[in-house]
Amino acid sequence: MPVVTVEGEKSFEVAAGTKLVLAIEDAGIDIMHKCGGNARCTTCRVQILHGHPHEMTDIERERLAREAALGPDIRLSCQIRVESDLTVAVLQRSSLTGIPAGTRPMD
Ligand code: FES
Repeated sequence: MPVVTVEGEKSFEVAAGTKLVLAIEDAGIDIMHKCGGNARCTTCRVQILHGHPHEMTDIERERLAREAALGPDIRLSCQIRVESDLTVAVLQRSSLTGIPAGTRPMD
């Protein structure tokens, strides 16, 4: 199984095909997902530190294109299916913003 490492937190195995945002949350790590995984809010954004997630879907590419300040290593964790080992940094946390994480994205 692929291993996901969240910088500053821990590493854990993930069933191939699991949405990255759910893998992170189910590992007990605080990550936001305000729009419920619909590529609208970008609060689930992560920085890819190591590894190569699959290519962006059209919906992810179009949404991130509206965020000019974000670098090419920033991805939407609700749009990534874990297929290989990844190391990421979680950038938006409910505990830091004081805003509820949002509706849980569908599997
Ligand atoms: S863009 Fe909103 S949860 Fe991913």
